[in-house]
Order: sequence, then structure tokens, then C-alpha cells
Amino acid sequence: MKQNLYFWSLSLMMGIISLTASGKQSPTTAPPTTVTGLRCEYAVNPIGMDIADPQLSWRLESSARDVRQTAYQIVVTRAAEDGSTEEVWNTGKVTSPLATAIPYAGAALESRGHYDWRVKVWTNDGAESAWSESAFFEMALMKESDWLHEWIAYAPGNPGRIIYFKGTFCPPQAVSRARLYLSGIGYNEMTINGRKVGDHVLDPVQSNYSKRIYYSTYDVTEYLGKENVLLVAVAPGWYGMPRLRMQMEVTCTDGSKHILTAGHLRAVATGPTMYSTIFDGEIYDARLESEALHQPYVPSGLMDRVWGLAHNADSPGGHMVSQKCEPIKVVDSLIPQKITEPQAGVYVFDTEQNLAGWAQIQVQGKRGDTLRLRFAETLYANGLVNQENLRNAKAMDTYICKGEGVECWEPRFTYHGFRYVQVEGLRQKPQVGMLRVKWVRNAVEPTGTFTCSNELLNRIHHMIVSTEASNLHGVPTDCPQRDERMGWLNDLTVRIEQALYNFDFSRFYAKFLDDVSDTQDPDGTITCVAPYRFGARPADPVSASYLLLAWKSYEFYGNRSILRDHYAGMRAWVDFLASRTENGIVNYSYYGDWSPPTAFAMSPESAVSKDTPGKLMSTGYLYYCASMIAQMAAVLGNSSDSQTYRQLADRTAEAFNREWWNEEQGGYATNNQAANAFALFLGVVSEDRIPRVVKNLAEDVKRHDNHLTTGNLCTKYLLEMLTRYGEKETAYRLATQTTYPSGGYMLENGATTLWERWEYATGDAMNSHNHPMMGSVDSWFYKYLLGIMPDVEQPAFAHFTLQPYVVEDLTFARGTYQTVKGVIRSDWSKTNGQLTWQVSIPANTTATLYVPTRNSASLRESGRSARKAPGLTFLREEGEWTLFEAG
Ligand code: BGC
Repeated sequence: MKQNLYFWSLSLMMGIISLTASGKQSPTTAPPTTVTGLRCEYAVNPIGMDIADPQLSWRLESSARDVRQTAYQIVVTRAAEDGSTEEVWNTGKVTSPLATAIPYAGAALESRGHYDWRVKVWTNDGAESAWSESAFFEMALMKESDWLHEWIAYAPGNPGRIIYFKGTFCPPQAVSRARLYLSGIGYNEMTINGRKVGDHVLDPVQSNYSKRIYYSTYDVTEYLGKENVLLVAVAPGWYGMPRLRMQMEVTCTDGSKHILTAGHLRAVATGPTMYSTIFDGEIYDARLESEALHQPYVPSGLMDRVWGLAHNADSPGGHMVSQKCEPIKVVDSLIPQKITEPQAGVYVFDTEQNLAGWAQIQVQGKRGDTLRLRFAETLYANGLVNQENLRNAKAMDTYICKGEGVECWEPRFTYHGFRYVQVEGLRQKPQVGMLRVKWVRNAVEPTGTFTCSNELLNRIHHMIVSTEASNLHGVPTDCPQRDERMGWLNDLTVRIEQALYNFDFSRFYAKFLDDVSDTQDPDGTITCVAPYRFGARPADPVSASYLLLAWKSYEFYGNRSILRDHYAGMRAWVDFLASRTENGIVNYSYYGDWSPPTAFAMSPESAVSKDTPGKLMSTGYLYYCASMIAQMAAVLGNSSDSQTYRQLADRTAEAFNREWWNEEQGGYATNNQAANAFALFLGVVSEDRIPRVVKNLAEDVKRHDNHLTTGNLCTKYLLEMLTRYGEKETAYRLATQTTYPSGGYMLENGATTLWERWEYATGDAMNSHNHPMMGSVDSWFYKYLLGIMPDVEQPAFAHFTLQPYVVEDLTFARGTYQTVKGVIRSDWSKTNGQLTWQVSIPANTTATLYVPTRNSASLRESGRSARKAPGLTFLREEGEWTLFEAG
């Protein structure tokens, strides 16, 4: 495989630094640069595009150092029906280093159009690359008028029932191309001749159906034969009453075209999946399985009792949007090895991992035998499942056997958050393998790795990644198990970064941002949860995730369209917050720094911090959001807004200091960890005050015997600010704490995913055991222990910083992050008093390296002075660091 990486190895010994050789020497003739990894709207060869100016990206690969793109050329062609091609966009040679998110600007893209594209680049050594391999994107249905038939439904009044829709299609000739545009809400699954179309589950992703409704596009060419039975099962999902809209467009080898719409379908309310809701689970009666379901419908008059007419139905209101984020899929499976029998005939399978998904069973029973599967995160002392914390979610699947040999079943329209599965109704003792557990989530790709010499931190990392992976179900959910599972914006404010390092959210966050903007009222207010099903309007001002979704998508993925498209809405939200100020202080708050250890909450039942004023959090976030709008406006070339919001931010910082700076104590508000860490993070503390604030912060941690007192938000800022301001060992002690409250304490008490509270709690109160909001230590691993930090001034990792904080206890830390430009790697290790640091810097990026020493003169690389190393430019010494620029 080609190396596009730069590879430095730095050794530090007894204060004398030598950089030792590894990686490639600078070659005499430059090796060729390859253009690869072509993506359209961050997807590889998407066929469901409906954006008029989709953004195109690519990567460079080279084994040489310091390779940078100086120019590019993109050519896009359209394949015409007669096999000819037409050039629709040729940029010519464009002098630009940009390789990420370049908006298409050729001839107007057309619905159903298939477009091929390729790129070549010029690099700083003067070379011209070869053309990349060709990639493509295909447009879906871009206009409402492309949909030839309305929504259909079945007579209402069957809550929880699955509706089956069926139609037959017989093409006159062999099929050369067939596309299916399918939207059945809440969830749908389609088979053609009994074969499931695609591998999505729980499709489409949820939305505010009165604003936008997602459809999926499938290439079904290979599915179609002479006579085809299309069967679509539609379940309530998040919508409630099943509704279907679909269109299958077929071209035959003779060039004839045929369209099958929902208007050709019949509907029936009875099939084997009897009932399904997200919170309560699914009921499946295998006795109702019938081959006839997959056979052509035989008309038997208007009042056919089985296959009734599918009625045209009102539109749910939203416009049709192609689903561009990764669909929900079964991403993994595992077989629980531990089975107990806490009560005669009741078996409990222990997955040994809390997760989101479902269980597939294999049973042999008599006709009519009824199996019940109850899902839970914890057990009672007697070994039975404890479902109290699921509140009103029944989380139970029921399977009724048909009694024909071994039967294998899994639900399709519900999911559960669980570690334990209690199975009731079996005739014999189950064997290991009777039950297979499936992980189900939006299939975003993993992007990060982290390991270090402290096993506890590795386990914490694993716990956090598992929690994030349990909470991606169309929206970033707060939890996967109880009667909630909502996209809470306050949690996401800190969760975004820990999530971004671990998974590719270039498409998923763009989708969720649309959900947030769909909640917005004309006066700018958004809601605490998106889509709006819970919480308040206006949202708590801590919902900075509205802006962060866009800003981080720009910083990590270079997505500029997202800033452009959401700018007005985000600004309106900030204006609304500003309108709620009195003397610069935001006058409301509900959660603030939510869910601190109970001793620091208003009461044992409350999750509101008692020592961190809610209005301090609200006002701090107004400052943060106003600053972000100022930066976004600058990126978009709106200098007047940029100035206006910078002034708003400055005024808010002044008010914040006026209201909460306590000169006597040298800290903010009650001088607690949250208030001081947050003020430092925001950057509103004047230079002369910083040392006192940092001292107070560190002393408070020590006073609590190296424990935090913070909630979901300020835990992030606490670790980061301690590290940034010279207290990395204190931060490390917090991160490695094993007594209450801490991540280590959760692990000691059997957690495999993060809890919602710092306390171990069961019962029907608020105590999810799979809640990502407390997981910000994970971004600290990437940003501080590995030192990988993006640079928003040069987004999409065109430039970034590598600044590892080498803590005393660790002997090594190593990890990678897959950026849109390639893989960044940062590995450091200590052996025999010597520290070695190896880094990889992708082609077409530059990095500022912070070498953790002040002794730059003796710093060596590849056996020679670092200052003379190819591709490495000495910048300066700064504090405890020596800075180099590397490309
Ligand atoms: C959610 C939390 C959220 C909180 C805000 C809870 O029900 O699970 O994640 O932060 O509500 O009130």
C-alpha cells in the first residue's frame, strides 16, 4: 500500500534531545502523487443525491514529505441514455490548495442524472498528477413534482399494527436499470420476490415529518425478474401511523421506461409482525407466515377482505428529502456466553456489554408456544431483569412459534438498550448460541484509535466508544433504552468532540443539524430536543450544539455549505438569547451544568447544580455562541456581522465578569470547579486573573481528594483547562480516579457503558446506564494525551496541531485519527529514560509540532539537527515546548 505519511521519530533523553531516523528520507526525484478517496457530500459514489451543488472532496497520497496541492482540475460528465457522455463541468486548472468540500458549479444537475467525475492536481514540487480514477454520483428525485403519486395508508385505528403493502410488476423486457425511491414511515422494509431490498434497518431515519421526510434510493436492477412481487411492511416507528410513498423506475433493454408508484399497491393489516413500537417491543406470530404474502395478489373485487385498497392519504406535510446520512444497520453481533436460570423456566442471557440493538433467537417449539424476551440493563439481586429504569418502555419482544422445526427470528421495527435478555416460555434449557445479540446503529465509520499504558484509561475509552455506538439512531440519542431516546442538545454540546474523534459524522451531523433547524420558530427559538418531542421551547441556552454541529462540521470536514445554509437560523437563535438578557446576563436556565454528583445538586432528587449558577452557564454560552457567529460571519465574508457579534460577545464577557468575578476569592461565582473551568474555557478571564483561577481550580480538585464536582458540561472544561494551564498531572489524577465520582468508579461497579448519573442507581428515577453525556474525557485523550487538534483557521485538517502532554505515570500513548485528508498518527513512548515520538502527517496538510522540550538546539531528527531536517521548519521555543512546522 502506498504511504502518504510523514514519519518523525523524536527521542528525548535526560533533557538532551535527539531526533532519530525513521520514515522516508527526502528523495532525489519526487515520487508521484496520487489523487484518491473521491467523495461527493462525504459519501463514496452516492446514488441518492438531491443537493443542487454537492461538495466534492479528494485526498492526495504520496510517499514524499511536504507535498502540497497548489492547483486542481475537476471534470464532471453526464452519461446520456444513448451511451454518449457530455461534459457538464470542467474547472480548468484552478490555483488552490482546497481538496475538501468544493461545491459543484457546472450545468444544473438533473433528477436521476448519473454523473462521473475525476480530478487531477498540481503540487508544490511543480509536478502534475495523473487523473484520479473516476467516481460518480447519481441524482435522486430533486423536485416534489418528480413524485408521481401521493402517500398511501390503510384505514387508521390500528395503533401499533404493521401494515403490509403489496404490488406486482411484470416488465415487458429484461431490465437494464431500476431505481427504487422508498419512504415508509415510521419504519419500512421492502422485499422483492421475498428478498430484502438493501441492508438498511429501521429506515428511514426519523425527522419532523411535517417538515421533511427521508426516502432511500436503491439500485434494484438485480432484483427484478419476469414477474415481481413487491411487499413493503411499514411500522409505526417514530411517526405513529404507517404511511408509504414509493416509486420504482425501470428501464428495459429495449429502452422502454416504466414507473410503479404507491398507487399500484394494495394493503393489508395482517401479517406475522402483529405489533411493534419502539419503546414496547415487537410481537410476531409465526403462525401467520404465509408464502401467499410473497405471491402475486389475485384481485377479488373492490371489497377484498384480505388485500384491501390502499387509500391515498394526506401528506404528513414535510418535503421529500433523500437520506444522505449512513443508514441504520446491524453493524455487529455477538453470542452471549453466560446463561442463568434465576427462576424455574426463566433464563437470563448476559451479553456482558450494554448496547443498543436486539436479539435473534433460534428455537424449536410447539405451534402456539409463546416466548417472551425482556430486555434490561441491570438485574435484581434474585437474578431477574430489572426494568424499572426503563420507565414506561416495556422493552419486550414476543415470538409465537409455528411449530415447524428450528425457527429463527429477530424483530425489525423496534430496538432496545440492554445488557441482559430474560427469556421466558422455552420448553427446554437453552444452549449458548440460541440467542445472538445484534448491535444496531447508524453505520458511521470508526475514525479513531487510542491506547496507552494505563489499562484503566483504555477501558474508559472502550466504555465511552461503546456508549456513543449505542446512541446513534437517526439522531444522537441521550440513551437507547427507556421511554426517551431523544436528541438532547445540552448533552450534545460537550459530546460532539468526543464523538467526532471516534466516528465519521460528516453526514450524520449535517442531518441532525437539519432536525434542529426544523424546530426553529420565526422568533429564533429552538427546542431542547430535536426533533421536538421532549423538553422546552425555548431550549436551555446551554444548547450550543446547534452552532457547534455546524462549526465542528466546518472545522473537521471543511463543510462550508453547512455554515451558509444554517447561518441565518443560528444567528436568529443567538439574537433570541441576546433578547433575553438583562444587563448582559441571560435571564433563564433550566439545566445548566446538569447532573453533578448529588452532593453538588440542588437536592438528592434534582440534577441541577447548586453551586454553579444556571444563568452563569446561560450567559457563558451566549458569549460562546456570539463568538462562533462572529467567526462564521468572517468565513462567509460578512464582515459587518462579524463585527456586530464580536461586540456582542465582548459585552457579554464584560457582563459575565461583572456579575461573577469574585476578587476576594480569585474565582467565579462560588469559586467551584465548574464556574472556574468554564470561564477559562470561554477565554473571558483576563491575563492577570488566570493564575489565581487556575490555582483555585487545581486546589479545589485536591480538596476533593482528586475528585470532580462537575456535571455533564463542565467536566469537559475542567480536564482541558487543568491541562492547558500547567496542571496536567492533576487532570490525569482525575481521569484515572477509581472512587466515586469518576469513570473508573463506574467501571469498578460493572459498567460497560457510561451512566447518566455519577452515582450507581437503579429504580424508576433518572438513571440510564448508557448515556454519552459524561464521556468528555475521551476527547481529552485525543486532544491532550495524543495532542491531535484541528485548526479552524485552516479547516479539514489542512493545518493542525500535534501537542502531546506527556504525563508522568504513562509509559506510552498511541493513537490515530482518520481525517478527510488521511490518517494522523501520534505515538509516544518512554523507554530507559528516553522518550520517542512518532507522528504521521498526511499529504497535503501541515502540522505545528509541539515537541515537549525547551532544549531545541540539541533536537535531532534522522541523525541530524532537527533544524536541518527536510520538511521540518523550526519555529520557536514557547514555554515548555519547541515548535516546528512539518508538512
Ligand atoms: C435526558 C438528559 C438531558 C436531560 C435534560 C434527561 O431526561 O436523558 O440526557 O440532559 O433530560 O433535562
